[in-house]
Amino acid sequence: MKASPLRLGVNIDHVATVRNARGGAHPDPIRAAHLAVLAGADGITAHLREDRRHIRDQDMERLKRQLFVPLNFEMAATEEMIGIALRLRPHACCLVPEKREERTTEGGLDIIGGADHLRPVIRELKGAGIRVSLFVEPERDIMDAACELGAPVVELHTGTYCEAVLEGDRARIEHELTRLRGAAAHGAGIGLEIHAGHGLDLQSVRPVAAIPEIVELNIGHSLIGEAIFLGLDEAVRGMRIAMDEGRLQAGEPADAASAAR
Ligand code: PXP
Repeated sequence: MKASPLRLGVNIDHVATVRNARGGAHPDPIRAAHLAVLAGADGITAHLREDRRHIRDQDMERLKRQLFVPLNFEMAATEEMIGIALRLRPHACCLVPEKREERTTEGGLDIIGGADHLRPVIRELKGAGIRVSLFVEPERDIMDAACELGAPVVELHTGTYCEAVLEGDRARIEHELTRLRGAAAHGAGIGLEIHAGHGLDLQSVRPVAAIPEIVELNIGHSLIGEAIFLGLDEAVRGMRIAMDEGRLQAGEPADAASAAR
């Protein structure tokens, strides 16, 4: 299969994390969003959590007003967030599970057990012209469930794969890449648009970028962390290069475990 271009969505949540550590307005996540776009980001992602630990309501308002690239509003499927999304009308909403005590999003959405809750939410957001994606584990039956729910897009959770890369566990890396490849191929085959994200960094991104059905990666923590040392511009440009290098391998049998080192 010929791979289509791969988009980079930059998640700016952790610029807000640093800002909130001191209160005040610095560093401004919207300034970071503009810089990321200038450096090559195709879109900006922000997660408005129930506890507002990083991105705040006003940040979402400013992003919606000021951005010229697609805004991806990551959110839990709660009444409050649905109301905000319907008012703001971002380009996209990515529905994620959210637990108060977690440090970051852990695991994908339970779209099989939660189907009755999610179905009307997806319908309502889509009805407002918002592209809905579901953040899910890379499994074939979950692709089928997403399709049945009427979601046009899924974002495959890459967290377990990234953990395996950090541990340097070659067998687990290959196992997780096989899951990602299988889910991406199956999902695309039944008409879903396939995105991926969570935990990706320069070490892990290439084999994921090489999966031809994946058309968008959403990356935050590693980019904002690298920005401390390199500046955001260089961090985003470096990630773009790594993604493009990975993409060149799309469709070719690669030694993924060594590509991920
Ligand atoms: N995609 C989703 C759905 C997420 O919840 C997150 C984390 O906010 C990301 C992508 C980005 O993950 P990371 O910050 O680890 O790059």
